[in-house]
Amino acid sequence: MTFTIRDIQTYDELMAIYHLQQEIWGLGDPNLGLYPPILNTMAKNGGVVLGAFDDETGRMVAFLVGFLGREPGGPLKLCSQTMGVLKEWRRYGIAEALKRVQRERIIAEGLSLMTWTYDPLEGPNAHLNLHKLRAISRTYLCDIYGSNFGALNAGLPTDRLQVEWWVNGTRLENEPDDEYEAEIWDSPPVFETKGEGTTRRIIRADLSLDANTLLLETPGDIHPIKAADMELALDWRLKVRNAFEKYFAKGYIAVDFISAIERGERRNRYVLQRSTPELLAEIGIAGEKL
Ligand SMILES: CC(C)(COP(=O)(O)OP(=O)(O)OC[C@H]1O[C@@H](n2cnc3c(N)ncnc32)[C@H](O)[C@@H]1OP(=O)(O)O)[C@@H](O)C(=O)NCCC(=O)NCCS
Repeated sequence: MTFTIRDIQTYDELMAIYHLQQEIWGLGDPNLGLYPPILNTMAKNGGVVLGAFDDETGRMVAFLVGFLGREPGGPLKLCSQTMGVLKEWRRYGIAEALKRVQRERIIAEGLSLMTWTYDPLEGPNAHLNLHKLRAISRTYLCDIYGSNFGALNAGLPTDRLQVEWWVNGTRLENEPDDEYEAEIWDSPPVFETKGEGTTRRIIRADLSLDANTLLLETPGDIHPIKAADMELALDWRLKVRNAFEKYFAKGYIAVDFISAIERGERRNRYVLQRSTPELLAEIGIAGEKL
């Protein structure tokens, strides 16, 4: 399974993005999703519209779309809108490779920030964004598209974490060392959970912790939980929402996501770190207004 990443070149390729999005999100409504002429305008006006193509068949198997934007009073940035990888092509590092090409492009444009959003209960996305790419989040957004945004999102409020990728931050060049890896496992947990796999649930939440780093657990895989017990999935959504909102308000930043197999079960945890001038400088935020 080898692939090549390049800019989109033709209108047919823009249409291929539309169809890939329909398939990956199970949108089920031709009027929803990315509108190819807008993608064309984005690509020609400072945006980045990339495809990943199967080397064997030439078929597009993944895409990444972003446009230029700015929050009021903030720096010019790339808003990375949507990325999708066909199911059979996942876990080959395509998403990471697409994001790295996107980063090169915005550095070449002289920009320092890229933002995007993702569902905090989605392990692969969290692992990619906060661990592999070493981006951060300090903004929680509630139910931004309603509960009916395609099969992939169906049934739960569409909460999102806003990711900030400060592309010149020194932390992007430095791999976390073994000392850090050992230390974070001693950090106090926000949630106590019980059960296993699709029955694991939060039985206690501690929202008054004040250690420098905290661990906030999320499901190993939210999709089987949604299939087996929607009420439990909603319980995760609401408790995780409440915890992020409380700790972000206290000045914590989500700086990492650790995923480990424990007794045959995948356990996922966010690492929240108390904001300090040193941390902000390492992320690359110091001096920049968002
Ligand atoms: C999110 C998505 C783009 C990732 O694509 P991908 O090419 O599989 O991503 P990568 O292989 O670069 O990285 C995913 C990482 O998550 C890990 N992962 C997979 N399942 C996981 C889980 N349940 N919990 C934690 N991590 C998980 C993978 O092992 C991989 O890490 P590794 O390289 O260290 O093994 C893809 O799953 C997708 O298209 N999802 C549906 C659409 C979507 O959510 N788009 C993003 C928001 S717009």
